[in-house]
Amino acid sequence: MSYLGPKVHIDLHQLKKNYQIVKSEVGEIPIMATVKANAYGHGAVEVSKALEEEGVRYLAVFTIDEGIELRDAGIKTDIFIYAKFDPSRIDEASKYNLTLNISSFDDLKALKAHVGNTVKVHLKIDTGMTRLGVPFEEAEAFLQEANQLDSIELEGLYSHFATADEGDLSYASSQLSKFSDVVEISKKLDMSFDFVHCSNSGAILNVQDSRFNMVRTGMLLYGAFPSDEVPQKLPIKPVMTFTAPIVEIRDVKAGTQISYGGVYKTKSDTRIAVVQAGFADGVPRPWYIDGFVKFQNQDFKITGRICMDQLMIDIGSADLNLGDEVLIFGANEHGNIDINHIAKKIDSTSYVLVTALGIRPKRIY
Ligand SMILES: Cc1ncc(COP(=O)(O)O)c(C=O)c1O
Repeated sequence: MSYLGPKVHIDLHQLKKNYQIVKSEVGEIPIMATVKANAYGHGAVEVSKALEEEGVRYLAVFTIDEGIELRDAGIKTDIFIYAKFDPSRIDEASKYNLTLNISSFDDLKALKAHVGNTVKVHLKIDTGMTRLGVPFEEAEAFLQEANQLDSIELEGLYSHFATADEGDLSYASSQLSKFSDVVEISKKLDMSFDFVHCSNSGAILNVQDSRFNMVRTGMLLYGAFPSDEVPQKLPIKPVMTFTAPIVEIRDVKAGTQISYGGVYKTKSDTRIAVVQAGFADGVPRPWYIDGFVKFQNQDFKITGRICMDQLMIDIGSADLNLGDEVLIFGANEHGNIDINHIAKKIDSTSYVLVTALGIRPKRIY
């Protein structure tokens, strides 16, 4: 039976191609692929399996539960947990071979008090994101203290950029200079880390001397640039294509009000199609103002507010029929709607758009 609802098509071949493109960009430097938040809406298990087949060195998720989900699905690759360290879950982390983020003196204290297996950790220094991480000024004391703990395997040292995907890179440069100082301090203390990392997608493109000996990337693998202020030379392409079917077509007179609030009225007699996808599925609600969908390379304006489960488009006299699947974003035989274009129009980001996908759209791999 054919499925009459929104679909998210995930092209794992394209994901692998994007991975190889990033890999050839960074050369020998190992990649930590960010697959948190269900691989940015793309499906964490499927994406992780595909990247594992390509030989990715590390995967990163946000929570321990996301890590366990991957282990339960048979993923063997190392997995890093970005979230704030949770002392109550050290044993689980060790059991599932998850690498933990250690980002405060209290974290070290809790590790010291813990009896049990050792855990692999990466130490996080805050160089200007002002989120997790030991303040840069206290890095030396932090490193010294961590170095004295027997219950941990010190595998990584890292930081995170706040503005690496922006046109003005002065703040990113100051973060990089602080992080480089921390790396020097660690050398002075005779500490060595297998992985020293601070590059995200923006930095891979924009701050090339921040690669150290690992890069963390998410968005580039999914085929979108982190913003429109980065160089866009890498030939990555979107992995995700969002489509939805026309489920109703009606003839309406000029001046007909459409959808909630009546903010849209038809200018002439026309045909309105109801498309089965709404904001609960991940169609960004503010997009109705400038928004359109595509079919056979033609744009069809979204008319009136996007509803929770449906939206309406003006199809005029075009040859569109019940069951036809229109393109909401991504690229397919009907054309290309770049999520960064939508993001820019609605003052959002590609990250918000892909992770806003609901659970209803059927994932097709
Ligand atoms: C700590 C950390 N590193 C790396 C990434 C990957 O970022 P991007 O998708 O921009 O490469 C993220 C994503 O938000 C992150 O939180």
